[in-house]
Amino acid sequence: MNFLTNRDISLELTHEILATAAGDVGDLPPLLQGKRAILLFEKTSTRTRFSFERALGELGCATSYADLRSTNFVKAHAVDEVRVIGDYADLLLIRMGDHELLAQMAEATPVPIINCMTDLAHPCQALADALTIVQHCAKPLTEVTVAYAGDFTNVLRSLAEICCPLGAQMKVAVPEPARTSDPTIEQAQSQSQLTYFDNVADAVRGADVVYTDTWVSLGQEEERSQRMELFGPFAITKEVFESANDTAIFMHCLPAERGAEVASDVFDHPRSVVFRQAYNRYTTGKALLYHLLKAGTERAA
Ligand code: CP
Repeated sequence: MNFLTNRDISLELTHEILATAAGDVGDLPPLLQGKRAILLFEKTSTRTRFSFERALGELGCATSYADLRSTNFVKAHAVDEVRVIGDYADLLLIRMGDHELLAQMAEATPVPIINCMTDLAHPCQALADALTIVQHCAKPLTEVTVAYAGDFTNVLRSLAEICCPLGAQMKVAVPEPARTSDPTIEQAQSQSQLTYFDNVADAVRGADVVYTDTWVSLGQEEERSQRMELFGPFAITKEVFESANDTAIFMHCLPAERGAEVASDVFDHPRSVVFRQAYNRYTTGKALLYHLLKAGTERAA
């Protein structure tokens, strides 16, 4: 089973993964003993790479890591190359920009592929985000309002893809020029689960979660000054954060740019849960590996 977007797994499996991650993941048996995973990353990573390497190691799985740009994926067709490495591994964890190409690669090999982030989706991040919300909001997800402000990123798309089916409401402040036509967002809008706002204060007012993401993703450095100007009014300042509920938490997938999308006093706020959120990349990543591979093992038996 591949995990390219959060829609690739059922709501039931999403709940199972979150429940496992909320428990003691140290107790999980080494289900991947004798297996090998290849991590192939086109872009830099701290959290995704090291949390998966820890989780894979604890599950008994050997790992090989390569910067995709240092391999012959850059010379040949990626679909041909993935067929080759599929014969060397039991699991592929891939970070690359082109989501459509990743989907084609997943068709070309029987080996499961986990999307470690494409330009379209960051489903592993969304699992950690959902767990963090459940752990820190003292009410069911169906009663939680998540405010997101800033750029229309893969993180927003995957956050909506997990939070809306789980029953949360989303209030999204993204400047009009950055809004992208997207089926996940449009479906959530049509079901009255997601509403756009032109103003960050309107989105954050009454929210239980305040979430933002970088304004300048890797590869967008040349657009930096235009992006700072476009997204500047959508920054999470202390004043904005304090207009959310009294118990609201601040979330960011990291890496963050203090003083840009989030003020330092919000990042360091007692209700900022960014480091717990980052730790949950490990617990949810391990629970994801366990359940995906368990399902594959059960099908093969
Ligand atoms: N949030 C996240 O994916 O972090 P990395 O880019 O460091 O993996």
